[in-house]
Amino acid sequence: MKPNLFQSYTLKDITLRNRIAVSPMCQYSSDDGFPNDWHLVHLGSRAVGGAGLVVVEATAVSPEGRISPQDSGIYTDQHVEPFAKINRFMTQHGSVPGIQLAHAGRKASASKPWEGDHHIGPDEGGWATIAPTAEAFGSNLPKVPKEMSIDDIHRVKQNFVDAARRSLDAGFQWLQIHFAHGYLAHEFYSPLSNKRTDQYGGSFDNRIRFLMETFAGVREVWPERLPLTVRLSVTDWIDGGVTIDESIELTRRLKSAGLDLLDVSHGFVTPDISSVPWGAGMMLPHAGRIRTEADIPTTTSWLITDPVQAETAIHNGQVDVVSLGREMLRDPYWPYHAAKQLGVEDRSGILPDQYARAVQ
Ligand code: FNR
Repeated sequence: MKPNLFQSYTLKDITLRNRIAVSPMCQYSSDDGFPNDWHLVHLGSRAVGGAGLVVVEATAVSPEGRISPQDSGIYTDQHVEPFAKINRFMTQHGSVPGIQLAHAGRKASASKPWEGDHHIGPDEGGWATIAPTAEAFGSNLPKVPKEMSIDDIHRVKQNFVDAARRSLDAGFQWLQIHFAHGYLAHEFYSPLSNKRTDQYGGSFDNRIRFLMETFAGVREVWPERLPLTVRLSVTDWIDGGVTIDESIELTRRLKSAGLDLLDVSHGFVTPDISSVPWGAGMMLPHAGRIRTEADIPTTTSWLITDPVQAETAIHNGQVDVVSLGREMLRDPYWPYHAAKQLGVEDRSGILPDQYARAVQ
């Protein structure tokens, strides 16, 4: 019997060859949103390395929704073909291509992390930002966003819908909507960043309205046969912020609206990360709770690096798929190494034929 990690996983009409996903990771390497050779090699290497699912980095649904001027984007029809080329390569090598659609809200218009990770003005290619409430994130991101009007809200929801349609045209088979990490949707969800007094702020129902409406719009254009997933910060770790209980209720509602799987993440809606309980597999218990209490498939990342830990998480019913971020940057061949460590004898189907014939 193969280890759980190397059993295939079917969600809707899509089957992953194993339970290993590459977590979305911004590369800050695009020009006007367009992916290029860097993305082909970066994403292609992880497909060649054997991951079942490769989720493309936070990809902006509008230019203003980019974290940095170098973010990936899918905000015009011209963006479709460059992604399609990468997707053809990943599919050819056995990985399901996924994409994360995002709007950075008040955290947009920043420099690349290795150039300071701070807000930039028009002279450096920056732009005016929008958010539910005209309050800055703070710290390195002091720019005060414009409070979104109802028209702004409708426009951004439509941006998500259009981006989802383009993602389908580009051959993506797995869609993830970014509702985490202090970006726009999370800014609506969290009372720490949403101080609105209209129907998009205040009560739980009002704070989740933007998320539910955006999800519903995307559901209409994203086919039923393909997985539609969300990445959610399920807790802010801060008094007065989003709680796990609320997130279980939100997940149940998203499930009723057609959610297929939740990527369980956390935090980053304010600069205060002092209460985050950093540690190996720190989000696995939360993912397990949501999987049981909202009765929905889950994945999570956060310091999952060890094959036995990953195998155990699936065995224990905490996640259906493990997501790896930084460990996949260290080792694109993590699936191959994990298979070896877990004693998988037939490792064909993990490495491509070009390598598998030569490597045991
Ligand atoms: C990230 N992360 C991230 N998350 C996300 O939802 N969208 C994104 O585009 C990015 N970008 C990104 C870039 C880089 C360089 C890193 C290291 C991380 C978070 C990432 O997906 C993952 O959740 C975390 O890195 C935690 O998982 P690991 O790295 O402990 O496996």
